[in-house]
Order: sequence, then structure tokens, then C-alpha cells
Amino acid sequence: MVRVMTKVKVFRCRICGDPYIGTEPPSRCPFCGATTQYFVEADKWDPQEFDVELSDQAREDLEAALKLELGNTSFYTCAENVAKNSGDEYGFAKFKSLRKVESEHASAICKFLKISKPPIEAGTCSQEFKENTQEGWDREDRAIKAYSTFRDRATEPRLKEFFGALVEIETDHLDLHAESLG
Ligand SMILES: [Fe+2]
Ligand SMILES: [Fe+2]
Repeated sequence: MVRVMTKVKVFRCRICGDPYIGTEPPSRCPFCGATTQYFVEADKWDPQEFDVELSDQAREDLEAALKLELGNTSFYTCAENVAKNSGDEYGFAKFKSLRKVESEHASAICKFLKISKPPIEAGTCSQEFKENTQEGWDREDRAIKAYSTFRDRATEPRLKEFFGALVEIETDHLDLHAESLG
């Protein structure tokens, strides 16, 4: 039997900076959820990607975004644990992946702000999958609205791109929640 070997490469996501090994870039970054277009081959990575001179407005917007991401990470951690403890495998998988992505967004924002990532505080949530899905939807909706504003008023092209990517990613999440809400 002949096995056709497709060569793997290292790629990097320009939204979160994380590396990925594959034959081609993924449809969504496994770390931050960014779409294929944001991947570059690792040897073409620009080490200054997160070095942006921030205006006061940009700093304020990044700080607001960090607050949203940390809050959403706390919430999804709670929802993940509730699902796990009740044996809801789908809910566990869904909230765990959302928790990881939102945590990655917080990390990326901290790279722009040049600060270390604050600890994730314990969050509260419902004991019901459906209620947590509704709250997830509300949170993603708020994030999309905020990031659209931040994207539109950003004067730094790199931040415009970053907030634009976050809007796309959180819209994926919104669609995912909507599927379970019917
Ligand atoms: Fe990423
Ligand atoms: Fe996020």
C-alpha cells in the first residue's frame, strides 16, 4: 500500500500569536478561533506584531475588552464545570472550548497592553445548559457590539484588524449558541 505523504509545516496565528502544525492552516485557529486568513508560515512571522503604539482611546478599549474576556472566561469555566458534573458531554465540550478561546483572547489583549495576564476569578452561572447558553449568547452579543465600536474607531490599522477578527470569532460563538436556543 502506498501512503501519500503530505508535508506538514509550522504556521502562526496573527491574532493570538500561537503556532500550529499542519499541512495547511486550519479553518479556525484552535486557540483563538481566528479564520484561515490570519495564519502565516512561521518563518514569515513578524516579531513586532504586538508592538503597537497605543493611543489613549486604544488603551481604554483594550482594557474594556480585557474585562469582557476575563468575565466571559470566568462564566464559561462555571458553565463547563456544571456540564461536567451533570454528565452533559456536549455542554462540557462546548463550554470548555469557549472558555479556552476567551482566555486566549485575554492573553492576546495583554500582549498589546504589555501587562501580565490577571488571574481568572471564579464566575457564577446557572445549573441549566439552556440558561447558560442564553447567557453565553447575551455575553457574545455584548462583546460583538463593543468590539465593533472599538474596531470602527481604532486609528491603529493593527488594532482595527484585531478587533475585526474578534468580532468574527464572537459571531461564530453567537451562532453556536443560537443553534441550541432554537
Ligand atoms: Fe489564534
Ligand atoms: Fe472573546
